[in-house]
This record gives sequence, structure tokens and C-alpha cells, in this order.
Amino acid sequence: MTVKKVKWGVIGAGGIADRRTLPGMMLAKNAELAAVMEVDADTAERLREKYGAKKAYTDYAGLLRDPDVECVYIASPVIFHKEQAIAAAKAGKHILCEKPIALTSGECLEVSGACEKAGILSATGFMMRYHAYHQMMKKIIAEGGIGQVVSARAQLTCWYPEIPGAWRQEKKLSGGGALIDMGVHCIDLIEYITGGRTVKTVGFSDTKTFSYDVDDSSNILIRLDNGVTGYVDSHFNIPDEAAFCRLEFYGTKGSLLAEGTIGQVEGGSLKAVFSGGGGYEAQQDRDTSGAVDLTAEFGNMYTKEIESFSDSILSGSPVQVPLSDAIHIQKVVEAAYRSSETGAVEDVGE
Ligand SMILES: NC(=O)c1ccc[n+]([C@@H]2O[C@H](COP(=O)([O-])OP(=O)(O)OC[C@H]3O[C@@H](n4cnc5c(N)ncnc54)[C@H](O)[C@@H]3O)[C@@H](O)[C@H]2O)c1
Repeated sequence: MTVKKVKWGVIGAGGIADRRTLPGMMLAKNAELAAVMEVDADTAERLREKYGAKKAYTDYAGLLRDPDVECVYIASPVIFHKEQAIAAAKAGKHILCEKPIALTSGECLEVSGACEKAGILSATGFMMRYHAYHQMMKKIIAEGGIGQVVSARAQLTCWYPEIPGAWRQEKKLSGGGALIDMGVHCIDLIEYITGGRTVKTVGFSDTKTFSYDVDDSSNILIRLDNGVTGYVDSHFNIPDEAAFCRLEFYGTKGSLLAEGTIGQVEGGSLKAVFSGGGGYEAQQDRDTSGAVDLTAEFGNMYTKEIESFSDSILSGSPVQVPLSDAIHIQKVVEAAYRSSETGAVEDVGE
């Protein structure tokens, strides 16, 4: 039996698309690459050949006119997302757009309005939701495995020094720095895994180390509507080998402690303590020898992301990472940046 495949076009194919998403798409059972778009003709042609696409374009409008393309993956610099996503919606193409969807939540709403009007499906590139350990943590928490979740922590960092011309280092091109670029995954994971939504936030986002105009350091607290308080640290100024990208959940009956799962490769480790709830012990000896290492079968998060959205297009299964989730996260980020200026706890708003 031949499996029906969604025909994809990729706008901005030379960055994360080439590094991760296109190799992931090549493994997807229900997707095929129809066209790539890059600004430089040689790069576009090189990528077309590398991934076996039919067409290479140097303008996104050309790719959107291609009747072969049913769905686009937008992985260009953030400044271009809004214009390209709205044009894709008007062209009737389904859209998977990289995070953040646009520079501001207002612009994100313009994009979602255009998608709704056009009646196409749209999704966001929060592919870390598909990590086997993140799925496992979500299930354990939903089943009450660690009791009432009272505290969470998520960390994503890298070393990102000044690079002339780097769009991420200019606020008008990126919308912000470490928090909007990396922290969004962390906030999304805490919400997704515990099943809550952030209602308030407070914290600091600063440029401590480098001379660019976006935050290289962000440390925020988020309060979710399910009572969870989460700490999110996102940095551009910690060496890759010095941070362990931890994701931790603590509850009244145990904890889930992941290391190296927040990132682009499905891997890392997950330790769990299932204590069944503690008796009071004045001695506070803290015997953690009951911690167990959990195992999972790893895949490729980008393949799962492409397969999931392709399946929504082909069979009408619910979109796993709807645009509305990304718009909400953008509002959390905006409230956190506000808090850094006002020093106050800020409401996220509807
Ligand atoms: N989910 C993830 O794992 C992940 C990882 C990294 C980046 N991202 C997101 O992907 C997007 C791109 O980031 P990146 O790291 O790939 O950046 P990048 O600069 O490495 O790559 C962007 C690509 O877009 C091309 N480009 C430039 N101008 C363009 C235009 N006007 N139209 C189309 N393409 C254009 C560039 O030539 C480049 O090849 C951002 O939204 C970023 O947040 C997601």
C-alpha cells in the first residue's frame, strides 16, 4: 500500500532546516520535500540537490506559487516570519513556523488571524515536546506519579559571543535574546508537561557579558494556573560544556530529574524518585538511594514533528503544537521582559 505523503516547501532552508529539520524530514514516512528556498541561488541549488527536492527558489513568493507545495516550513530569521507566514496562508499552504512566530504577540495574532481566515492548518516548532523522556514525564505527572507538582526548573544555554551581522543579536530582527530564543522552549516544556498555563512572571533579563542589544542572561520565575512555580534560566554566556540543560519537576510524592534532554538531539538521562510521600523526619538524612534511572527509546524529534503535522494535514488528527500555544508563550516572554524593567510581578494576560 502506498502511503500518502504531504509535499513540503522550506523557506529559509540553510540554517536549522539544513542542520536538523531537513535531515529529520528525510526520515518521515508521510512527508516529502518538494521545494527549498534560500536567498542565495547557489545555496538554494546545493540544498535542492542534497535533499532531492524538485525545485529551488530564491524568493519565497515563487515557492508559494508552486502548486506542488502543500505545506511550508518557515525557518528564516524571525523578522521575516510574519510576512512569509501571512503570504503562505493567503496562498493556501499549511504552515509549520519556527519559534518565535513573530517579533511580538501582536504580530503573532496577525499571523493566526490570516491562518484562520484562509482555513489552513498551522503549527509551531516546539519540537522538544516530542522527546521520549518529555512524553514520559508528562504521563507520569498526569498519573500522579510524583503527587502534586510544586516546583519545576528548566535550563537552556549556549555560548554565543558577538558575531558581526548575526540577526539574533539585534532586537529589531529577533525580538530579544536568550529568553525569546531559548527560554521559550523551557517555558513551553514546563507548561506542556505539567498541563498548566503561566499566569504571572517575575525576573531579570540582562546583557551581562556581551555588547549586543539583546539579553545574554535571563532568569525568570513563572507561576502556572495549576499552582506550579517554575524557574527558567536561559543564557548565551555559559559555555556549552558547563551547562547540563536540566529539566526538573518536584512533587509531594517524588521528583523527575532530566539532564541533557532540552536540546536538539533526542538523548540525555532521566532519574526519578517515587517516594510515595514522606513521613516527617527531623534528622533530615536525605537518603536519595531510591532514585531510579528511567529508559526510553529515542528517535528524532524533528522527524516526529514533521510526521505529526503531516498526519494532521492528511487525516485531520489534532495539531500537537497549535499557534495559540506559541502566542501565549510570547505573551509570557513579553511579561518577563516587562518585569525586568519594572521590577514587579507581571500578569501575562489573556
Ligand atoms: N526548533 C529548533 O530546534 C530551532 C533551532 C534553531 C533555530 N530555530 C529557529 O529557526 C529560525 C531560524 O534560525 P536559524 O538558527 O536557522 O538561523 P540561521 O541564520 O542559521 O538560518 C536562517 C536561514 O534563513 C535564510 N534567510 C535569510 N533571509 C531570508 C529571507 N528573507 N527569507 C528566507 N530565508 C532567509 C538565511 O540565508 C539562513 O540560511 C528562528 O526562528 C529560530 O528561532 C529553531
